[in-house]
Amino acid sequence: MTLRLDSTEAGIATAARLLREGGLVAFGTETVYGLGADATQPKAVARIFEAKNRPRFNPLISHFPDAEAAFEQVEASPLARRLAAAFWPGPLTLVLPRAAGSTVSDLAADGLSTLAIRVPRGDITAALLRQTGRPVAAPSANRSGRISPSSAAHVLEELEGRIDAVLDSGPCAIGLESTVLDLTDPDRPCLLRPGGITAEELEVLCCTLHRPATQSDAAPVSPGRMLSHYAPGLPVRLDVNTPRPDEALLAFGPQNGPSTAAMTWNLSESGNLEEAASRLFSGLRALDHAGTARHLRGIAVQPIPTHGLGLAIHDRLTRAAAPRPTSVNPKENTLP
Ligand code: TXA
Ligand code: MG
Repeated sequence: MTLRLDSTEAGIATAARLLREGGLVAFGTETVYGLGADATQPKAVARIFEAKNRPRFNPLISHFPDAEAAFEQVEASPLARRLAAAFWPGPLTLVLPRAAGSTVSDLAADGLSTLAIRVPRGDITAALLRQTGRPVAAPSANRSGRISPSSAAHVLEELEGRIDAVLDSGPCAIGLESTVLDLTDPDRPCLLRPGGITAEELEVLCCTLHRPATQSDAAPVSPGRMLSHYAPGLPVRLDVNTPRPDEALLAFGPQNGPSTAAMTWNLSESGNLEEAASRLFSGLRALDHAGTARHLRGIAVQPIPTHGLGLAIHDRLTRAAAPRPTSVNPKENTLP
């Protein structure tokens, strides 16, 4: 059974106790809901992979209530400290060399010599992490390959019965995942995943950002980079100006005249990228559900600008549209 905990003092205390006891607790952050486990307990971390059906080779982000706790686990460079001061708490994940005394289990770090750390925004999240008193490993709280959840209801759709509890802190403000920045080589900050902090914002403090070399699914340096990811059940077609009558439309910006699509979810009628990011995963989910019920052929997506948060939106949509390996085809990924 999965407990649904309110974000009261008692709810937070129960969630923290469950985490310390090795349980799986989903919790809200400003980006998406995370599926948390005590990162120091390998058995608890193993349950994350099991609940998500996640390939074992994915390292997890460790979450902390503040920068001080986060930096105990890594060798922090001056650049890391500057970025943390500028963007934490917030949607930025830093990959750094793991400290010799790090308590994060090898399973959470996937045996790597590096560790991804993040201090999420939000009083409820901070209270939970502080009371847990250990690094909390948390991938997004969806089954592997599926759309990330931005509300407690989405989490339950994905993981009801497979996790101990969800701490409901309301809908996520940003709605897509954190930016992952690799600072392992201090001279070559590398943007592994675009996200809630934009490349433009980072470049102010980082000078030049590098991009990872193109990767194949077989050798994921950062497995959030696997090509098919965030996939709804219906196929997704990008950069569509005129949708077909048997498609659902994920629209962006003001619409001139009636749509040719069977149904429409507008990410932002005013063309605001922050609003669009916050409505992306719920829009994909809503069109997928309604479109499947009406036997539609797929989801068409209107062109979206690539500056600012548009880069992260593009990244997620490209993955949603990518050819899918059968193992992550959501239609075949049924609950046991
Ligand atoms: O917003 C977020 O980041 C959410 C919330 C819950 O914090 N978490 C999230 O986790 O999106 P996940 O597991 O879905 O994505 C983590 C990303 C993956 O792309 C993973 O490969 C990368 O971070 N990552 C984690 N540890 C890494 C490491 N040591 N080196 C390189 N990439 C790493
Ligand atoms: Mg994810």
